[in-house]
Amino acid sequence: MHVNVVLNKTTSKDYSVIIDTLEKLVFETKVMIVTNTTVAALHLASLQTRIEAKEVHTLILPDGEMYKNFESLNLILNACFEHRLDRKSILIAFGGGVIGDMTGFAASIYQRGIDFIQIPTTLLAQVDASVGGKTGINNDYGKNLIGSFWQPRAVYCDSTFLKTLPKREFAAGVAEIIKMAVTFDKAFFEWLETHDLHEEANLKMAIHKSISIKADVVSQDETEQGIRAVLNYGHTFAHVIENQTHYTTYLHGEAVAIGIVMANALAYTLGLLTAIEAGRVRKLLEHYELPTHYAINHLETFYDAFFLDKKSANDTITFILAKGIGGNEMRHSIPKALVFEALGAFHA
Ligand code: NAD
Ligand code: GLY
Repeated sequence: MHVNVVLNKTTSKDYSVIIDTLEKLVFETKVMIVTNTTVAALHLASLQTRIEAKEVHTLILPDGEMYKNFESLNLILNACFEHRLDRKSILIAFGGGVIGDMTGFAASIYQRGIDFIQIPTTLLAQVDASVGGKTGINNDYGKNLIGSFWQPRAVYCDSTFLKTLPKREFAAGVAEIIKMAVTFDKAFFEWLETHDLHEEANLKMAIHKSISIKADVVSQDETEQGIRAVLNYGHTFAHVIENQTHYTTYLHGEAVAIGIVMANALAYTLGLLTAIEAGRVRKLLEHYELPTHYAINHLETFYDAFFLDKKSANDTITFILAKGIGGNEMRHSIPKALVFEALGAFHA
C-alpha cells in the first residue's frame, strides 16, 4: 500500500524588484528591520521614516562576513521571539548580501517560515544577492553551506543608498555585473566596455539589466537544478580563495573577479574562450581596479578544496565556464591535469 502526497510544483510566489527611489512602505503587521552597525549609522533613520507598520522593531548586528554565522542567526531568531513576531510578521533585510542572506534564512525557519523584504544597500546585493531567494550562513567548512531557498516578498533597489558605498565595495558589485554579462549577454558586455558605471545613469541601466538577467535565470530554475548554476561563474575558485584567506583579505566580489580570471584560464585551456576574449574580460575587471591574481601556494590543496563546493557531487567538480563572451557551459569531470595546467599561471 502507498499514499501519494501530491504537492504544488512550487510554493514560492512571484514578486517584483522595484528599482527606484524608495517611497513609504505601509504594513498592517509587525515588522522587524535587520541591519548592521555600518548601515544603521548611515541610513537607518532615513529608512525608519519611510516604514509604517503595526509595530516597527530594529535589530542591529555587528558588521562583517565573519558574523554571517549561527550566532547572528540566533540573535535574529531571538529578537523575533522577544518581539513576539507572529506568522504574519515581516522581516526587512536592510544592508548588503550578508544581512540579506542571514535575514532571509531566519525568515525561512522562524515559525516554519515568514515573509521578508529585501532593501539592499550594496551594489552587489542590488544586482545579485537580494534577488532569487538564496539564503544562508557560513560555517567552519565553508561559505553558504547552510541555508535555504526562500524568496523575498519584494525587493527595493534604491541607488541613492549606494552613494555612501566605499570604492572597493562598489567595484565588488561590478564584478557580479560583469559575471552576468560574460556568461549571458554579449551585447551587455560590449555596452559595459564603453560605459563607465561611475555615471549614475549608466549604473541604473546596469542594475536593471543585471537584475533582469538574474530574474530570467531564477524564473527558469529556482532551486539550481541546471541553468542557475551558471550564476556561480568564478565562484568555485572564489570560495576557495575566500576560505584560504579566512574571509579577511578579499571582499566577496573581489574574490569573484579573481575566480572569473581563473575560470577563463580554464576555458581557454579547453578551447572555449580565446585569449583575446579572456583579455577583454580581465581588462574590464581591471578598469574597476578589481584584483585578477591570487598566488596559489599549493595546487593540490587548492584543488582539494573544490570538493567542499556545493556544486561538487559524487566527487565530481562542476566548473562553470564562459563559452565565448555571452555564452556559458557547465563542464563535469575535467581531468585534474588540465585544471593544473590552467592554474599554472597562478602557482606561487
Ligand atoms: P556585505 O553585506 O558585507 O556589505 C559590504 C560592506 O558594505 C559591509 O561592511 C556593509 O556594512 C557595508 N555597507 C552596506 N551598505 C552600505 C552603504 N550603503 N554604504 C556604506 N557601506 C555599506 O557584503 P556584500 O558584498 O553586499 O555581500 C556579500 C555577501 O552576499 C556574501 O556573504 C555572499 O555570500 C552573499 N551573496 C549572496 C548571493 C545570493 O544569491 N544570496 C549572491 C551573491 C552574494
Ligand atoms: N548568486 C548566485 C545565485 O543566486 O544563484
